[in-house]
Amino acid sequence: MSSHGAPVPMTSRPCGPLKGEARVPGDKSISHRALILGALSVGETRISGLLEGQDVLDTAKAMRAFGAEVTDHGEGNWSVHGVGVGGFAEPENVIDCGNSGTGVRLIMGAVATSPVTVTFTGDASLNGRPMARVTDPLALFGARSYGRAGGRLPMTLVGAPDPVPVNYTVPVPSAQVKSAVLLAGLNAPGKTVVTEAEATRDHTERMLAGFGAEITVEETEAGRVITLTGQPELKPQHIEVPRDPSSAAFPVCAALIVPGSDVLVPGIGLNPTRAGLFASLRDMGADLTYENERTEGGEPVADLRARFSPDLQGIEVPPARAASMIDEYPVLSVVAAFARGETVMRGVKELRVKESDRIDAMATGLRANGVTVEDGPDWWTVTGAGHGNVPGGATCASHLDHRIAMSFLILGMATQKPVSLDDGGPVATSFPVFEQLMSGLGAQIQRSNR
Ligand code: S3P
Repeated sequence: MSSHGAPVPMTSRPCGPLKGEARVPGDKSISHRALILGALSVGETRISGLLEGQDVLDTAKAMRAFGAEVTDHGEGNWSVHGVGVGGFAEPENVIDCGNSGTGVRLIMGAVATSPVTVTFTGDASLNGRPMARVTDPLALFGARSYGRAGGRLPMTLVGAPDPVPVNYTVPVPSAQVKSAVLLAGLNAPGKTVVTEAEATRDHTERMLAGFGAEITVEETEAGRVITLTGQPELKPQHIEVPRDPSSAAFPVCAALIVPGSDVLVPGIGLNPTRAGLFASLRDMGADLTYENERTEGGEPVADLRARFSPDLQGIEVPPARAASMIDEYPVLSVVAAFARGETVMRGVKELRVKESDRIDAMATGLRANGVTVEDGPDWWTVTGAGHGNVPGGATCASHLDHRIAMSFLILGMATQKPVSLDDGGPVATSFPVFEQLMSGLGAQIQRSNR
């Protein structure tokens, strides 16, 4: 089932060279944060290039429910009239974050230190995901939560009436947990300190500084130590959202595996905490170059050029790179199927608690299409068959997971036989124009099972 309606079966067929320019949508992580920080500042924040995927639309709707005025001006231009730090009103109804772990976890952080009671829910995927990783640190601020067994949604969060600042070491590499703590720290008096052993995406820190919060980041032996001074007046900003590297991953990887391809993917955010996939692809021998490197809105940006790469080799992906490419392992495993030799991915336990168990979802679908995959609790390996040798021909399950759905559609572009998908509906959560964009390059994706 798709998260918002009946299942949408799809089939991707082997296709000729992919050529042209792929203008992928705005960054999902930055889009959520722009709406939330806009809602917490006083005055009008303008956002251009906002991702209009369902995940972000659900966050926009939530910000309205808390009292912010959120307006869609068309073509990715939005404005948010914020209510200020500590100004969230109690919503009249349940907050439905749909499929979005980022949405619900960041919003929980943002409300945890305000005197409001909020009930959160989501789709079947989100309601199965662990929330204790967020509610545990939020309890230290004085917030209480009442959820289903295992700390799952639906869940009611009672914000702390008299919040205290916290000093918290994030136990898993998670930008969502780090960000939830920082957003809660905004309305706690004094300094909230968050330590992360491994660097995860730092959009929250960058954007908080941009909105005028007092925030410092120190590299220490224990990791990155982030210190935020609470109760600032956030000043509205104009945010230009760069295009999403996690979405760029799909046309880039497709171009590498479809013979004769040459695709330009312009304006991609290359924040080092996000760019691990591109480094790994280059290590595999991918013909992938960065053109026109520049800085936009405080984030490094470049145009990516990806060409068919006949000599891809399997690699051991450095585990230290995992956080910077955590959402890209599914599509990397597809590229690995067309490489020579084994690609080893270790230190990736977090993949098991994403929108789906991504190791299991990819391993099952790849095996059904004739690819050799082995997996364990926090690792998996894909043994590549080389270009032209991957059979395909099976139907895969997307498990309500956009990145699983898109990865299998990319697989079918270069297999011997078409690859089908039970439900392509989840693609709309992060990449609503995926079918048009990929078809424009020459892909053959149809809405039917065969
Ligand atoms: C995100 C953080 C990551 C990532 C997700 C977006 C964010 O999740 O998988 O798609 O915007 O903070 P974790 O924090 O669970 O690693």
